[in-house]
Amino acid sequence: MRAIIIVQPGGPSVMHVMERDTPTPGAEEVLIKVHAAGVNRPDVAQRKGNYAAPPGAPVDIPGLEVAGEIVEAGPGVSQWKAGDKVCALLAGGGYAEYAVAPAGQCLPVPAGWDFIQACTLPETVFTVWHNVFQRGRLKEGEHFLVHGGSSGIGITAIQLARAFGARVFATAGTDAKCAACMELGAHICVNYRTEDFEVHLKPEGVDVILDMIGGDYIHKNVHLLNVEGRLVFINVMRGAKDTLDALAVMQKRLTITGSTLRNRDLAFKAALTQEIRERVWPVIEAGKFKPVISQVFPLAEAPAAHTLMESSEHIGKIVLQVVKD
Ligand SMILES: NC(=O)c1ccc[n+]([C@@H]2O[C@H](COP(=O)([O-])OP(=O)(O)OC[C@H]3O[C@@H](n4cnc5c(N)ncnc54)[C@H](OP(=O)(O)O)[C@@H]3O)[C@@H](O)[C@H]2O)c1
Repeated sequence: MRAIIIVQPGGPSVMHVMERDTPTPGAEEVLIKVHAAGVNRPDVAQRKGNYAAPPGAPVDIPGLEVAGEIVEAGPGVSQWKAGDKVCALLAGGGYAEYAVAPAGQCLPVPAGWDFIQACTLPETVFTVWHNVFQRGRLKEGEHFLVHGGSSGIGITAIQLARAFGARVFATAGTDAKCAACMELGAHICVNYRTEDFEVHLKPEGVDVILDMIGGDYIHKNVHLLNVEGRLVFINVMRGAKDTLDALAVMQKRLTITGSTLRNRDLAFKAALTQEIRERVWPVIEAGKFKPVISQVFPLAEAPAAHTLMESSEHIGKIVLQVVKD
């Protein structure tokens, strides 16, 4: 099969199309003929040598999510069969013509969605559901803020928080990105380059914050949160360390938490998949959540896809098309 291989850590040009053996599904796994693969910021970190694949995942083929058709079910798989159309969360190996996925991490392609649209779901929906709704315990009527509102994660967080009845705020780096966030359902979006989000949102108050920025946002988040607020980290793009006002944490009884999805075990991911199928898939199939795709590249143009992601000019998801449907 053809696959994108990271030949050494570095810039986008270290990724090359190469021939690799088609993988074989083991027990409780399926082999997927990949039609489209989603590109995510963690793939960029892996390419740079900063985010190694966990044990068992392909070490040099990036790609955390795919959509396609099951061509073979391994021993012990009863819920899927050859011909089923699925999207799947992977620990790596998605930028390829075939990928092996744990059967428990596959979901049906939602009704009315094509493969290009469906491949954009797993990584961001799993991350947002776990961090915003499980760890952050966001409830109907609460106020929710996501930083990086126009990112793949951001567009997912805005739409799901809105669908589950929250009042939704976002931050983004341009007025055009803010307009896109508002169109997706954000009640307020702050352009952080021209306005201070803490000052702007203080009169509203915030119950749950999903933060991928860190750095100087850490103390601003703590000051912005309401009593019993929850701050959830999924990355620290501006740095992991900053001063923390522990008195504010005590006085407001805040919860500060966070997680990374990729290294979680199979049992955790299978349980999360099941909950997402029951709680989120009906929302998607009811049309309350739409795909937001910035650009689609052929598989061989993965370097250009990464260059776009690193420019941060995109709004929503970037996709690699493997099969022209
Ligand atoms: N913990 C987990 O399990 C997990 C899983 C998936 C993703 N993530 C993280 O979630 C984040 C979003 O992922 P994605 O794939 O959706 O990424 P993405 O689409 O590339 O979006 C990232 C956005 O962050 C903003 N940004 C980039 N560098 C920044 C900086 N130094 N300061 C402020 N803003 C910055 C940019 O928007 P602006 O122009 O608005 O600044 C950019 O569009 C990434 O940091 C990723 O690593 C974590």
